[in-house]
Amino acid sequence: GAAELGPYRHYMQKEIFEQPRVIGDTLEGVTGIMPELFGDGAYNVFKQIDRVLILACGTSYYSGLTAKYWIESVAKIPVNVEIASEYRYRDSVPHPNTLVVTISQSGETADTLAALKHARSLGMEHTLTICNVATSAMVRECKLAYITRAGVEVGVASTKAFTTQLAALFLLTLSLAQVNGLLSDADEAAHLKAMRHLPVAISSVLALEPQIMAWAEDFARKENALFLGRGMHYPIALEGALKLKEISYIHAEAYPAGELKHGPLALVTEEMPVVTIAPNDTLIEKLKSNMQEVRARGGQLYVFADVDSRITSGEGLHVIRLPEHYGLLSPILHVVSLQLLAYHAALARGTDVDKPRNLAKSVTVE
Ligand code: G6P
Repeated sequence: GAAELGPYRHYMQKEIFEQPRVIGDTLEGVTGIMPELFGDGAYNVFKQIDRVLILACGTSYYSGLTAKYWIESVAKIPVNVEIASEYRYRDSVPHPNTLVVTISQSGETADTLAALKHARSLGMEHTLTICNVATSAMVRECKLAYITRAGVEVGVASTKAFTTQLAALFLLTLSLAQVNGLLSDADEAAHLKAMRHLPVAISSVLALEPQIMAWAEDFARKENALFLGRGMHYPIALEGALKLKEISYIHAEAYPAGELKHGPLALVTEEMPVVTIAPNDTLIEKLKSNMQEVRARGGQLYVFADVDSRITSGEGLHVIRLPEHYGLLSPILHVVSLQLLAYHAALARGTDVDKPRNLAKSVTVE
């Protein structure tokens, strides 16, 4: 009811603004990295596995895609991420030393549960879930679990469940790295410090809301949008595009920026806003030349940069600067700005933000 919403107009907005707190809740009590964060016996499981298979749907699938970048980079374990409804029906080559990871806000998504059972039927017994509902079927079905503490999520478009999943997946990355002897005490301390600082860092992104609202006014008048990212921010571009199409009904697509020249560049005109996630990482110079390709075709760039990205606004180039550069955890900050952009674009278009047409919060039938 209205009382529960407090100062917010929609549950989605309330849930976006709850993220500093629920990330803190999800990490509460984590004073050190250890496999047992995922349950008894996790050390033995993590010791035995030499690959990871992530199964999920929707927004949860995109947190899995982000985790692939983290796990392969930090823990050096190969990761496959599959859409549950595809995996369950295709012929795949099972490997017994696989850690099967399901990711689900509800823990009741029919396709994800079926994909888990399919993996098990192929002889893969090491199962772990990242889930927001402790009493769900998914948690009962998996041997290991990390329960995110996002609280009840009402908005159909997932926001706080996603960022808490990312926090849990980062803990999984560090735990796997530790078991593989790839996490020094100094690294562990530095990562824990960065994680503890996340609520403050997210709050500073939330403070950008007025600037993002001004952009959303432009977007509300468009019928198409393109989202670009590279590396671990490519899945965030996918999630940003999904958020925008789910609630504003603007057609949005995401591409890894290096793929622009292989197709989407043909779509770029003055009518096409191009959202670019541009953290100051090792790919920034490549990304700048991708942005140049867009500008040369008259495309309007809306760039989420960092304090030190050295990108300045100009003709056809709009820049919002995130307050700090956040290294490996940067996807968690950048997605918050895209959630706000989608929310305000939908608000400007007058759609039913919390209950978009044709969509359900939890898809428990096929
Ligand atoms: C539905 C929801 C999405 C969600 C997806 C997977 O499509 O609208 O927000 O990401 O299901 O749900 P799960 O509960 O498994 O994360």
